[in-house]
Amino acid sequence: MIKKAVIPAAGYGTRFLPATKALAKEMFPIIDTPTIQYIVEEAIASGIEEILIIVSANKNAIMDHFDRNLELEGILKEKNKTEELNIVTRVSNLANIHYIRQKEQLGLGHAVLCAKAFIGNEPFALLLGDDLYVGNEKPVLRQLIDKYDQYGGSFLGTLEVDLQDTSKYGICKPESVLEPGLSLLSSVVEKPKPEVAPSRSAIGGRYVLSPTIFKYLENQERGAGGEIQLTDAIKRMMTEEKVFSYDVDGKRYDIGSRIGYIEATLDFGLKRDDVRPQVIELLNKKLKELDQK
Ligand code: UTP
Repeated sequence: MIKKAVIPAAGYGTRFLPATKALAKEMFPIIDTPTIQYIVEEAIASGIEEILIIVSANKNAIMDHFDRNLELEGILKEKNKTEELNIVTRVSNLANIHYIRQKEQLGLGHAVLCAKAFIGNEPFALLLGDDLYVGNEKPVLRQLIDKYDQYGGSFLGTLEVDLQDTSKYGICKPESVLEPGLSLLSSVVEKPKPEVAPSRSAIGGRYVLSPTIFKYLENQERGAGGEIQLTDAIKRMMTEEKVFSYDVDGKRYDIGSRIGYIEATLDFGLKRDDVRPQVIELLNKKLKELDQK
């Protein structure tokens, strides 16, 4: 049973400067809700009971967001803003959230290693704090946990990407296909060029990992970009334990990239009944303006 989840949210977010100079990208709102709140809600909807968020020095807004704000609650009560009060209190009651600081941003692998004491010796879920998913029938993490319950081992959530995009992702090398979309892996290759990519199956920010990963992270040397890479440690773990990839059924948005953020805002705006009509009107107007140019 997977009951604990880790959400790393301590990165510098250099692709989104200057916004990320003082504001965590994980706090960027999609319409009116911070990205990390959607991720916490995905974890809860997937059966997770305890969440550890990995933060860094300038990410206090994340902790404030999930905490109570008694002053704001008092003001909303006084003004009889019941709906707003419910929104605010619901966020602070979402889950048992714990925090730890990653003191130096040495990479995703290092961030995950910071969770070792919290996780102990049980398998756990990992959700990257800037990867937002909308699962089709089930939350994407739940899809991975269901497969883990069937097969054990570790699971990497994957998405099929265009061949020309393999150099942006960790790409899986399958050894055998066990069922459609589910493969036992023999390796993972970090950001391969299309001509050497072993598949089009890209790792996309959702994992179920065996605690064995910590043993490999502890002595993992720095890899690409001088960072301690999670995929390098996963690759080494494959020599000891089974690691599977599973194509998740959902749409992914990379909030850490400008275009991913814009697409998420548009899609969520088109999906939410309260703003959808105005968003469509606005889009039509903008398209007409573009046509006239
Ligand atoms: P990214 O690779 O998107 O990291 O990390 P980044 O370094 O923040 O962004 P860029 O590439 O400079 O724009 C994926 C997730 O892992 C976290 C990030 O906060 C993000 O949610 N992370 C990354 C850490 O917690 N610590 C790190 O040292 C690196």
